[in-house]
Amino acid sequence: MRLLSLEVQNYRNICAARLEPGRELTVICGNNGQGKTNLLEAIWLLTGGKSFRGGKDAELVRRGEAFAVLEADTQRDRPEGCEPAEPAHIRMTVGTPEAAKPGRYAAVNGAAPKRAAALAGSFPAVVFDPGHLSLVKGAPEGRRKFLDAALCQLYPGYLASYRRYVRVLQQKNALLRHSANGQERPYAEKRTLLEVLNTELAARGEALQQRRREYLELLAPRACANYAELSHGAERMSIRYAAQFAPGGLAALLRQRQEEELRAGQSLCGIHREDLELLLDDQPARVYASQGQQRSVVLSLKMAEAAAAAQITGEHPVLLLDDVLSELDEGRKQYLLTCMKEKQTFVTSCDDTDFLKTDGEVYRMDGGVLNRVWQHG
Ligand SMILES: Nc1ncnc2c1ncn2[C@@H]1O[C@H](COP(=O)(O)OP(=O)(O)O)[C@@H](O)[C@H]1O
Ligand SMILES: [Mg+2]
Repeated sequence: MRLLSLEVQNYRNICAARLEPGRELTVICGNNGQGKTNLLEAIWLLTGGKSFRGGKDAELVRRGEAFAVLEADTQRDRPEGCEPAEPAHIRMTVGTPEAAKPGRYAAVNGAAPKRAAALAGSFPAVVFDPGHLSLVKGAPEGRRKFLDAALCQLYPGYLASYRRYVRVLQQKNALLRHSANGQERPYAEKRTLLEVLNTELAARGEALQQRRREYLELLAPRACANYAELSHGAERMSIRYAAQFAPGGLAALLRQRQEEELRAGQSLCGIHREDLELLLDDQPARVYASQGQQRSVVLSLKMAEAAAAAQITGEHPVLLLDDVLSELDEGRKQYLLTCMKEKQTFVTSCDDTDFLKTDGEVYRMDGGVLNRVWQHG
């Protein structure tokens, strides 16, 4: 995938900006608080997803304005030797709740605007944001989210299945809670209902876990190889899926723990309790990894996510790397800089010295004003 050009109006602190990215690397440098992440976030919105910083639509619009507008030209990859793909034009509007048209809408090639979520799959991107460092140190929920979000992007059916699983789980928890609170349905009725819900959970849960396992078979070896290169073999990364059941075993597990769940008044097992264990030299990275190592783990995962998506869909996602080089030693920086030359990559940095030797496009962001930096030689 490639972004050919982007124009931004009234987006966060950016009044008006135009970006003409390089084929490979585009660097956005500038001091803190100038709007670098804002620009990456604007590119990310073209995926149709929500802001990676969790910003609500209203926060994305420049204070005092009703609308933000993004206009982008994008182009899909073609196999070697084929005619280049026709560029697509995306026009996205973000309206505040007070605007004539609140929310995010996108029109592709002049067609009638649709909800931005309908863009899903038309501009694939992978983002690294320093907030993602919590993938290593944070709760299992974040790691499950990482897996599930990637799977939702890759397989449209996954989201529907996942939602169905969550809905049934909520029904089950409500039933268990009420029985624990003594608001008793007749015993037999409660049990029958629980069995019906468990049957549905077992079928959905098996299918979802199978997708997660298949995806990890692609992702894990790549992520670990990325880590080996990034760290020059200083330590070895490995990934283990902490499953609660072997394939085909969820129905039995749910039966086995039914009494316990009734006593506890809540669900105690299923794919919503599984985890992705990240290990460095066989020790949990959650406990032992330094700042730089955490960053390396997350980057290795993110680059593997992009490569896995490319393998599955044939389209290599654009890489958006926010503040990626800080806390990395020289060897790791150099390796990353080579990766950035392979696919279209956008990086932000407070320190442009790392990029002076690269042949990418360099921009400077100052108080929401974007200027191209002309490099010599
Ligand atoms: N809706 C908005 N309207 C105007 N300014 C905003 C809005 N949202 C964020 N900002 C400003 O954007 C700046 C932060 O930009 P950011 O891209 O995070 O900086 P950095 O260059 O450090 O990545 C802050 O000064 C913040 O006040
Ligand atoms: Mg920033």
